[in-house]
Amino acid sequence: MSGLVNLISLNLKNPQKGLVGWWLVNSAFKKRNAYLEENAARLCNIQPDHRVLEIGFGPGCGLKAAYEYVKEGNGKIHGVEISEYMLEFASKSCHQLIQQNKLQILLSSVHHMPFNTDTFDSVFHVNCYYFWPSMKSSLREIYRVMKPGAVMVTTLNLKRLKIMQSKGYFKHGNIDPLRYMVALEKTGFENVRIEYLKDSLYDEKKPYQAIFAEIKEKPAYDEEFEDVEYENLDIKNNEKSENFKPL
Ligand SMILES: C[S@@+](CC[C@H](N)C(=O)[O-])C[C@H]1O[C@@H](n2cnc3c(N)ncnc32)[C@H](O)[C@@H]1O
Repeated sequence: MSGLVNLISLNLKNPQKGLVGWWLVNSAFKKRNAYLEENAARLCNIQPDHRVLEIGFGPGCGLKAAYEYVKEGNGKIHGVEISEYMLEFASKSCHQLIQQNKLQILLSSVHHMPFNTDTFDSVFHVNCYYFWPSMKSSLREIYRVMKPGAVMVTTLNLKRLKIMQSKGYFKHGNIDPLRYMVALEKTGFENVRIEYLKDSLYDEKKPYQAIFAEIKEKPAYDEEFEDVEYENLDIKNNEKSENFKPL
């Protein structure tokens, strides 16, 4: 594998400041993935008072799309990222939403998030599960922060992913949707399904896929999901947490 392919692969997992990171953000994430981000937000059926989480928001296209659904209500959008570059990028592009207290973005990995149990009405992520450090602990953590009745959506373009994989760009990730879906069911998510859709926002002909997972009811008590650490953490005061870096 060439050094450049490896660098692109690493930057897909955790974009860094530099030529490759800049190129990926501007030529791929912002241009080619924006329709996936916007459709993921749309498919979450976000209501004006909803709390919504995006995992791995990249430059922030999905955060802005989700904001459109809560701007008239009391809802709020939250996002987590492991890339400092993406956090800085989105904090600039979404500056106004952060100022209005309609958006909070944090440097945090999906498998350990600073949110109370049963916080979110919906969760979405795009081109992200491929890179999670442990599918099991990541999905358990997402399950914990979702409310009963909440839905999670991820959108993807399998054809494009397979082409990228054949070129070696997923050396540091695993795109297999089946692995993701089986893990969702094992974690306790219900109605896990993949739908084959066409873009309804920009280009009617552009195909993509969406994987849905729901939580209808949660077990009354399950010590595996107990969250002693975040028990008393007020979501509005996440800024005070020492472990996480908000912007
Ligand atoms: C290929 S990029 C996709 C960015 C954006 N969602 C899009 O589709 O344009 C993957 C993103 O997921 C983030 N990411 C990777 N692992 C993560 C983790 N464990 N927790 C949160 N975010 C993660 C990366 O930093 C990166 O910004």
